[in-house]
Amino acid sequence: MKWRLAALLWAGASVATAANGFGRAEFADRRDPPPYTALNAAQREAYELGHAIFNTQWVIAGTPRAGRRDGLGPLFNAATCDGCHNEGARAQGASGDEPAPIGLVVQLGSPTAQFDVGDPVYGHVLNTSAIEGYAPEARVRMRYIERAGRYADGAAWTLRAPRIEIDALAHGALARDTLIKPRLASALFGAGLLQAVPDAAIVEIARRQAGIDGQVAWREVNGLQRAGRFGWQADAVSIEAQTARAFSREMGLGSTPIPHDDCTAAQGECRKAADGGKPEATDEFLAALVSFQQWLAVPAASASQPQDGAALFVATGCAACHRPQLPVENIVGAEMIAPYTDLLLHDLGAGLADRTLSGKPVTSRWRTAPLWGLNHVRRSGRAWALLHDGRARSVEEAVLWHDGEAAAARRRFEKLDASRRQRLSSWVEGL
Ligand code: HEC
Ligand code: HEC
Repeated sequence: MKWRLAALLWAGASVATAANGFGRAEFADRRDPPPYTALNAAQREAYELGHAIFNTQWVIAGTPRAGRRDGLGPLFNAATCDGCHNEGARAQGASGDEPAPIGLVVQLGSPTAQFDVGDPVYGHVLNTSAIEGYAPEARVRMRYIERAGRYADGAAWTLRAPRIEIDALAHGALARDTLIKPRLASALFGAGLLQAVPDAAIVEIARRQAGIDGQVAWREVNGLQRAGRFGWQADAVSIEAQTARAFSREMGLGSTPIPHDDCTAAQGECRKAADGGKPEATDEFLAALVSFQQWLAVPAASASQPQDGAALFVATGCAACHRPQLPVENIVGAEMIAPYTDLLLHDLGAGLADRTLSGKPVTSRWRTAPLWGLNHVRRSGRAWALLHDGRARSVEEAVLWHDGEAAAARRRFEKLDASRRQRLSSWVEGL
């Protein structure tokens, strides 16, 4: 197995594959996202139940005829998964100075702890909604500061740096060193295939990466070390773990993996709120949601891609992190997928780093964002909102924010002539 893995990785490093690889499907109706493979009757039923639960509006504990769909809150951000991940797609960003949209969530962290430590009073996520009789934790507003610059050929660009304003805090000020972690709800396409990449492959890629310092997101689960891969910082090791976290932190729903809401010891009234059964989200519903995400396809890439796009992507150094090929295990019909990520964490510099409440940037490592499925955004005609907080309004802006380990690739991009820059960006948009 080891040798086979090495051989597969070697092949993947030298070839920039056709974008439309395994796992893709036409999303003819975006409200009916297809699975990437033919499902048998039982699997199809689980997929469809999962899709229905994904779209279910959860209601307050004790609501009559709730059909096991009660227990929302008392604090939450949205009442459905779909409210943030519209039919599996990434959320929309803020278009300007305005209240943070529902899919742009503010997580709270500690500047010293590695990951998964929240604010002592407000917990892991600032919950901006609450059921009747409870106060939301806070109000969040986005502001943007524009910054201009020029390419080597003189063409102008502008970027917008976010400033997050938090007020109406229900329990007094946040700790000054609490880390403010804005996160846009990511696309869920192909999650089951990312889950099928063996830890050993991720370790091997980190070992071979030259000139950049990709790190495996080791997370301890039941005493075992596993490679995290979901979320902008690869905090979660599985679809189930991320789903339970979303239920707990963003919807106020307990499930077997995480039976409690995101209420801290300082939030007595939140802890005492009535619950909608134990667990609130049943094991059957959780399993169906996992099935839906596990088989969810990646939308097809554009059929008319610039011919030299893939070559430009490799020559500019993008493919060093956004790897065109990764091996998968136990997937019928495929040994390789083309997600354009290495599932490793990289430091992209202070400009993208999370900041404490007082504005101090804290070294942050981000999972190389998978680029497959971006064509779905282009086809939707919606505004682009790229990077972990949706600040980038185009692929070009996203690249210009790349610094730290990706500084050399960004500089090569900046030196391309306008036509190549445009072809490379357009190719990425069509992935
Ligand atoms: C209030 C908005 C919100 C709701 C509701 C929500 N999510 Fe998310 N979701 C997010 C954000 C924000 C992220 C990125 C988290 C991070 O980076 O830590 C995310 C990430 C994910 C990911 C990781 C995808 C990847 O490849 O990284 C999965 C899977 C996921 N959510 C599933 C769900 C499911 C299932 C539900 C419903 C039970 C749900 N989410 C409800 C905001 C939301
Ligand atoms: C050193 C590794 C590295 C290199 C090299 C690199 N990237 Fe990235 N890229 C990342 C990481 C990590 C992120 C996520 C950063 C974040 O969200 O803050 C990212 C995010 C992106 C995004 C946003 C995706 C999304 O879902 O929001 C785009 C687009 C992108 N990169 C394109 C490129 C292109 C084009 C190049 C080559 C010019 C490139 N990248 C080079 C690591 C890299």
